[in-house]
Amino acid sequence: MTRTIIVSNRLPTKVLRTDDGLAFKPSEGGLATGLGSIYKAEGNVWVGWPGMFVEDAAEQEFVTEQLRADSMAPVFLTESEIRDYYEGFSNETLWPTFHYFSQYAVYDAATWEAYVAVNEKFCQAVLAQSGPDDTIWVHDYQLLLLPQMLRKARPQATIGFFLHIPFPSYEMVRALPWRTQLLEGMLGADLIGFHTFSYMRHFLSSVSQLLGLPTVNGQIDTPTRSVQVDAFPMGIDYQRFADAAASEAAQQHEQVYREALHGARIVLSIDRLDYTKGIAERLRAFELLLQRFPEWRGQVSLIMVVVPSRDQVAQYQALKEEIDELVGRINAQYRTIAWSPIQYFYRSFPLEELAALYRMADVGLVTPIRDGMNLVAKEFIASKLDRRGVLILSERAGAARELSDALLINPSDTDQLVQTLHDALVMPEEEQTQRMAEMQALVRRYDVFAWTQLFMSQLTEAKARQRNLA
Ligand code: UDP
Ligand code: G6P
Repeated sequence: MTRTIIVSNRLPTKVLRTDDGLAFKPSEGGLATGLGSIYKAEGNVWVGWPGMFVEDAAEQEFVTEQLRADSMAPVFLTESEIRDYYEGFSNETLWPTFHYFSQYAVYDAATWEAYVAVNEKFCQAVLAQSGPDDTIWVHDYQLLLLPQMLRKARPQATIGFFLHIPFPSYEMVRALPWRTQLLEGMLGADLIGFHTFSYMRHFLSSVSQLLGLPTVNGQIDTPTRSVQVDAFPMGIDYQRFADAAASEAAQQHEQVYREALHGARIVLSIDRLDYTKGIAERLRAFELLLQRFPEWRGQVSLIMVVVPSRDQVAQYQALKEEIDELVGRINAQYRTIAWSPIQYFYRSFPLEELAALYRMADVGLVTPIRDGMNLVAKEFIASKLDRRGVLILSERAGAARELSDALLINPSDTDQLVQTLHDALVMPEEEQTQRMAEMQALVRRYDVFAWTQLFMSQLTEAKARQRNLA
């Protein structure tokens, strides 16, 4: 039987150190939550980092045993690997560059070396976990070199690669000192997937301009093999979110929250802490809404969930301070004894509580500056069982390509955002349900299972059609 080996930097389960010893929790982030529903099928295994530094051999063994029972195989990273490969090259070089924040990008030969070494470490882990007939599916920007490393070790292997973040314009990519190696690393795969056609076009353009390889109809001819490239907009486990929203637990949470909010209308914002998400810009827009439309004072609250992320990286620390400061200032200026403009949470929520928030929100405010896809937008839609509620969505999120019934905004245009917030809050119910029904049909049909199936069948086809050019 062919198994699928999923490989990503982060496993869908993370290990935490608590007063009672090690604990296991679901990871946050679109990759882990999105794929979390599919990897357990048919003897598959997910290879990745359990999210914490575990040095002690006995602890490593314990973690390995626990995760094995759940179809996962951990790759343990040392403290310096976490610093240089994860926080360093992955999140201070690739992440800002690929999200068009090149002013934040650091070019450091030492973190590049660590990136190469850790990709090699993942390669060894995958080889140990898989047989020659297994399909290997590599995910995301932390492992761009892995497909090529696996290809060298197993020339005949079936290897897929999917990028969960934007692939930026050639002008961004060309600034990277290691651009050639990174592109060649990806080309070790048989099929390379992106969320949207524009990311795919950018990739093809970089490959042709930087590597001089011919690309026709999404096919790249490398000196040895042809590689297929395509767009696969990622979906969510729709049913899981719809069921969570329908659950008794979510309804009870909603009731408690509603009582505490004294009937205020709710604008909901949920993200990992990240400068790509436009969180500070969103707060400023909400402040302007209260200034320009005083009728909303006392009537509408922004519930803002910010999930801690990458807190050792300087830009993330600075953003956290900026958000704390903005929330404090806005609340201090406008709050009354009975009403807070912003309910700010810096932590992650369990599924049923998230579901309650999605259920009760009048407006889902998703305004990233750049976002590969943004699954929160889709989860909000899946949770709207009564089809009421309005999604405001940045045109620079991958999800905007599909969700044309959202109110699409340019996240740099604060005036437009303020006006759109007002429009959303006064939108007639009939229009809300019409738009929501259209979006639900789409998000339900192209769920994460359909996405996986499509990617896997295209991978099989690409392999069958592949031209060996050597
Ligand atoms: N999320 C979570 N716990 C929380 C808040 C969010 O697990 O308290 C999840 C959310 O359900 C979503 C993911 O984090 O699936 C965020 O994915 P998205 O694609 O929106 O952004 P990313 O974090 O991948 O950049
Ligand atoms: C995004 C990336 C994922 C990453 C997630 C959470 O979704 O595409 O690869 O896992 O953010 O970030 P973290 O650095 O905590 O893994």
